[in-house]
Amino acid sequence: ADTVETSFHVRNLTTNRLCQNQVIPAANDSIPGPALTVKEGDTVIVHVFNESPYNLTIHWHGVFQRLTQWADGPEFVTQCPISPGGNYTYRFNLTGQEGTLWWHAHSQWLRATVYGSLIIRPRDGQNYPFSQPDLEDTIMLGEWWNADPNDVENAALANGSAPAAADAYTINGWPGDLFNSCISNNTYKLDVVPGQTLLLRIINAALNTQFFFKIANHNLTVVAVDASYTNPFQTDVVLVGPGQTTDVLVTANQSPGLYYMAAHPYASAVVVPFNTNTTTAILAYPNATQTTPILPDLPAFNDTPTAFTFSSNLTALVTSRFWSAVPQIVDENMFITFGLGLSSCGANQTCGGLFRERMSASMNNRSFVLPTGISLLEAFYRNVSGVYTEDFPDQPPSVFDYTNMNNSFDPNLLMTPKSTSLKRLRFNSTVQIVLQNTALLGVENHPMHLHGFNFYVLAQGFGNYDPANDTSRFNLINPQERNTLGVPVGGWAVIRFRANNPGVWFIHCHLEVHLPWGLGTAFLVENGGTPESTLPPPPADFPQC
Ligand code: C2O
Repeated sequence: ADTVETSFHVRNLTTNRLCQNQVIPAANDSIPGPALTVKEGDTVIVHVFNESPYNLTIHWHGVFQRLTQWADGPEFVTQCPISPGGNYTYRFNLTGQEGTLWWHAHSQWLRATVYGSLIIRPRDGQNYPFSQPDLEDTIMLGEWWNADPNDVENAALANGSAPAAADAYTINGWPGDLFNSCISNNTYKLDVVPGQTLLLRIINAALNTQFFFKIANHNLTVVAVDASYTNPFQTDVVLVGPGQTTDVLVTANQSPGLYYMAAHPYASAVVVPFNTNTTTAILAYPNATQTTPILPDLPAFNDTPTAFTFSSNLTALVTSRFWSAVPQIVDENMFITFGLGLSSCGANQTCGGLFRERMSASMNNRSFVLPTGISLLEAFYRNVSGVYTEDFPDQPPSVFDYTNMNNSFDPNLLMTPKSTSLKRLRFNSTVQIVLQNTALLGVENHPMHLHGFNFYVLAQGFGNYDPANDTSRFNLINPQERNTLGVPVGGWAVIRFRANNPGVWFIHCHLEVHLPWGLGTAFLVENGGTPESTLPPPPADFPQC
């Protein structure tokens, strides 16, 4: 195994999109930022220099960070931010993980432009569990605002409302020529040779948008999601939520021509505004005679049946050398409701509405608040009291009303109290969570992301989770493994994982706007009692608040 060492300089970049210049923070002056391509087992060292005017952290989305949790990155969860002018070196190892992951800023809305891919190929002497593709490429889906995204977020938080929709969606940083014809805008183009097989790694780096993705006239075979191999799954459309990745094989078996690769939103509910544009890139055969690429027919924005068919039919490839069997005995069983709600307007805020409210979100009827002077991880490691409580999930008596899919405008249910309430887990315990969407302010598909682990997706469904009937639907044989799961709109999912990774692990909705609204919590995983299961002290350059 090798050591891959590199530097990220994050600083303001002036760049042109949608016919106008924008000053925006970017890593190494590019959007997306640098692609990290490594092999399973490698060690990664990234020196991050914050030359931007904002506080910054970088998160390595999907990396387990076993015993390197000081490098996980979420602001105030594992670390204090790197202040402007500061730097911090992230070091971690990629043993036992293979496939497509990515990295992104985990501070305010910086990840709108500070993100890139993290591709982990098989180590020397190992192969993919499918025939070797002729060609590999990465498609990163994103969003673009004619504004600094931090300003968009701050404006929404200031008036308690939903943020402005993105002005465009992007593929590898560009909106594409279908939507936008500015001379300065490049449409991403991928050249293929007839007969070749392409491994396409699709990453959704958008803040607030889930996407349907298609390639005109080409079938897709899904072989991995979130850096976990799946049984080959044939489809013509992929659903990818923020944070998720999907690897597909594509055979260039169509008549030589130009074909759009296109994405537009899956908007399960219009709680977060979205626009209806389609972002495109071009799959180009040599000697194509036509000038206008063929456009695929994308599903409707609210096509939940198509979204659910895709998400619920994936299964794990149990012959993969990274597979381990689902633990059958559960030690911790949690039932967690989550969704959107309201919180009351602060005394000196100007916001109106029925209850003088602001948009809010919650898990278990609690709206999560991050600490400010210290990270949760440092407080846990050093036993600092007064930073968080350990009463999650405490299931207030009204909790079962939340699962009623009739919208309720009872202010007692809608208005969620704020707290920093966490859950302690014994090392190596098996944890099962029923994630139940609520329907108070309208229902939505929430992409729930767990740091530090992959989890098994045992079952998903619509309506209220019913233990009497739904446990019989659990897939305990070959459930897909993920780090981010879109819990069905107006529905539920059951996940299971082994808490074999000591530290403080964030679980939150990866629709970025839901994070400051409070849709998250964290698990405190105790040390295991051996050196191999004990978190070492933070590195010398660990940022202080
Ligand atoms: Cu990709 Cu906590 O996030």
